Amino acid sequence: MNYKITVIPGDGIGPEIVREAKKVMDKVGRVYGHSFGYTEVLMGGCSIDAYGIPLTEEALETARRSDAVLLGAVGGDVGNSRWYDVAPNLRPEAGLLAIRKGLGLFANIRPAYLYRELEGACPLKKEIIGDGFDMVIMRELTGGLYFGDRYTREVDGVMTAVDTLTYNEKEIRRIAVKGFEIARKRRRKVTSVDKANVLDSSRLWRRVVEEVAKEYPEVELTHMLVDNCAMQLVMNPGQFDVILTENMFGDILSDEASMITGSIGMLSSASMNESRFGLYEPSHGSAPDIAGKDMANPIATILSAAMLLRYSCDLDQEADAIEKAVREVLAEGYRTGDIMSRGCEQVGTSSMGDLIAGKIGST
Ligand code: IPM
Ligand code: MG
Repeated sequence: MNYKITVIPGDGIGPEIVREAKKVMDKVGRVYGHSFGYTEVLMGGCSIDAYGIPLTEEALETARRSDAVLLGAVGGDVGNSRWYDVAPNLRPEAGLLAIRKGLGLFANIRPAYLYRELEGACPLKKEIIGDGFDMVIMRELTGGLYFGDRYTREVDGVMTAVDTLTYNEKEIRRIAVKGFEIARKRRRKVTSVDKANVLDSSRLWRRVVEEVAKEYPEVELTHMLVDNCAMQLVMNPGQFDVILTENMFGDILSDEASMITGSIGMLSSASMNESRFGLYEPSHGSAPDIAGKDMANPIATILSAAMLLRYSCDLDQEADAIEKAVREVLAEGYRTGDIMSRGCEQVGTSSMGDLIAGKIGST
């Protein structure tokens, strides 16, 4: 099969890590007989430099016409006045919000998994880690506070800022369905996270999630308040399978979950619409301080490419092969600087990509 992939290298380390993910995909293509046709577009700071805006309509249209999008990272140093001394809707990150909305990517899937090989990097105590953890955060991505009306103006002589948190039942239902669907293929547990003791939007969330749960009797549903969830993540992370939550809570909890894996450089993510279309990117940022130095960890992007194959191309076997290759390379003791520990061999971005690509089809 031939797949059309829109590639957005972006800013900072983006181009380097995307190059490695493409290297691995091309190897998969050769071994399994697929071809991936890439079209590169600009987004973020590089798009601002070229066109004055973080995402052009043409770039969005290219993405829309493809089977999937592979993204590196966008944004830079906030000290970079060229990108940041402008209105918020013209900054690099606005490109990310625009592509999420423009492509209808309402379902953000963020796995947080503790690699046994990297347990030393986990900041939690051994007794809390227990048998490890393996969870997925299913974050609603195109609603809530991020996309509600907002303004700042004087009200009765006092400067006042307003952000609106809105959810309708359709938006809640479709993300809940995605959450239950994914739970069904995992350990069949959904923890729906809200703030139903305070917010109306959360009370509606809870009601709709319960309705959807009736269609998935094999999946166990529990509700958890977001503050309690933040605590439970560092007290007993092993209890979670799928965490289902709204946009802002998911933003915060997914950073917390990634932190306890000890290795944000390992975490992939997918943002999907109703169909099989998705945008795949590492969970980490553009790390401008190490850009261009062959130091970045490409594994999160390589694992995002695996998710792309699995979810958008239905290539499970190929995705498994990439995940297995990553494990093998880690088990052999190769590490990039961010996950380096004693007794291991430190390698650069491009060597890590070579090592992983080298494993595909080798057994
Ligand atoms: C993320 C990021 C974005 C978000 C920012 C860059 C707008 O933090 O993907 O989690 O808040 O969604
Ligand atoms: Mg975030």
